[in-house]
Amino acid sequence: MKKLSIALLFAAASTLLAADGAALYKKCAGCHGPKGEKKALGKSEVIQGWDVAKTEEALKGYKAGTRNVHGMGGLMKGQVASMSDADIKAVAEYIHGLK
Ligand code: HEC
Repeated sequence: MKKLSIALLFAAASTLLAADGAALYKKCAGCHGPKGEKKALGKSEVIQGWDVAKTEEALKGYKAGTRNVHGMGGLMKGQVASMSDADIKAVAEYIHGLK
């Protein structure tokens, strides 16, 4: 019985802590489009449906300041600077699901 309640507690806590990709993506939509279908500021690639790993790598690169594909890496750095690895993963999963 005790084991079960501990398991339930963990399940509840991880649901609460889980980053919400859809909510995180809201601030991205202005440039990348609600479905990731736009070239952000006419510069970026269309990120709609990107592989989770590819998006994660790109976002971590911007966060670290090492990625700058179209001369706008600094701008993207500002977008992801406050995001945790879990947030990045969640938003990457959300983008992968966009079509
Ligand atoms: C103010 C406009 C703007 C916002 C807001 C924005 N981006 Fe970007 N994004 C860009 C631009 C411009 C680039 C191209 C950067 C470069 O030069 O490498 C880019 C690049 C990217 C790339 C890589 C695409 C490529 O061309 O290599 C991904 C992935 C991405 N953004 C995801 C996001 C996510 C996720 C968010 C929200 C957390 C976000 N962006 C918010 C403008 C924006």
